[in-house]
Amino acid sequence: MAATLDVTFTGLRFENPFLLSSAPPTESESNILRAFDAGWGGVVTKTIGLHPVVNVDGPKTKFLRATPDAPHLSMKRRPGMALHSSWNWELISDKPLDWWVPHITRIKQAHPTKVLVASIMAGSGSDEELRHWQTLATACQSAGADALELNLSCPHMDRQDMGSNIGKDQAQISIVTKIVKEVAKVPVWAKLTPSTTDIVVEARGAFLGGADAVVSSNTFPSLTLIDPETLEFEMNVDGYTSSGGLGGPAILPQSLAKMAQLTQAFPDRAFSGIGGISEFAHALNYFVLGCGTVQVCTAAMLDHAIGPNVIKGLKEDMLAFMEKRGFSTLEDFRGIRRDRVVTHSKIRRPDDKAYHGGHDAEGYALPATPETGH
Ligand SMILES: Cc1cc2nc3c(=O)[nH]c(=O)nc-3n(C[C@H](O)[C@H](O)[C@H](O)COP(=O)(O)O)c2cc1C
Repeated sequence: MAATLDVTFTGLRFENPFLLSSAPPTESESNILRAFDAGWGGVVTKTIGLHPVVNVDGPKTKFLRATPDAPHLSMKRRPGMALHSSWNWELISDKPLDWWVPHITRIKQAHPTKVLVASIMAGSGSDEELRHWQTLATACQSAGADALELNLSCPHMDRQDMGSNIGKDQAQISIVTKIVKEVAKVPVWAKLTPSTTDIVVEARGAFLGGADAVVSSNTFPSLTLIDPETLEFEMNVDGYTSSGGLGGPAILPQSLAKMAQLTQAFPDRAFSGIGGISEFAHALNYFVLGCGTVQVCTAAMLDHAIGPNVIKGLKEDMLAFMEKRGFSTLEDFRGIRRDRVVTHSKIRRPDDKAYHGGHDAEGYALPATPETGH
């Protein structure tokens, strides 16, 4: 059988498992239409909210680059530099829900077979705020959105009841997911923050609330570097900066570590992987850990704003990989390396010596037993 890129994820059919994530590439109708024309299987809109949004006075995203053969990292462009990461302190969409609703309808009419996911965000500090989630969800699904992605992960919200601040709270995640599920007729995905001690706890909250999938990662909290010449942060307004979000190549291994935890804890659940993907070799990591789709932001921003070359490469290289290995669909290799991520003490020692994770063999504490009581 010839290889196909078709996948079914949370009950939705995608012509390929590659989506543009919620970010500048998906902030306008023209961008989303171009993205579908370029071949992306799905698109997650820039996050839509009901609260007023005013962005910082200056650039909202920049790119940190490394100099080959020198330990130099800077946002200033120099010849021959390689991308290290993106850094953003952009808030959610500054376009109101009333702007998005007719545009979602038009996009779906133009591309009925492509998957359009609406990313939404509200607060959680009051019943009224929780109802905002329902208002956003019903408006977007009535307009034609195929699924909803709950933004529980924006890294730079001052409000304690929004974004990654609720994404660190299992109970809040459950409440928000459940509130949306009460009105949702389409699948609901929960996009979690990586800025948490044990992401499995938050994912459990999302699944308890009824989430159909968990999405990870949003950007990692981070600061821009100081310019040693000027002693100013490389991104600042009037000399001030704030915590922002790191994306791009630098977060690929970190995001994979989060995804490995998630897919091992919930092997039968649906996951969409994000973080540092610019070619199929990167996406493959997420697939073999168990993801059913992946999403891209930074690489697309740097490729004509919506990633026409990125999606071309992803599709071509995935097909070539599958044909070479005799795989017919993603299901043939999804999750095949999930169980190879083990605890440190399970990694073989030289001469078959056993290691007990720092317990009895080291002469320290014995492993907890009913007798020792610890
Ligand atoms: C400038 C910028 C704006 C973003 N805005 C949003 C957003 O509105 N909602 C959201 O869920 N994620 C947002 N993200 C996070 C991305 O969707 C994605 O999770 C993150 O950048 C990691 O993917 P990457 O390594 O491919 O960039 C934004 C990222 C960037 C760089």
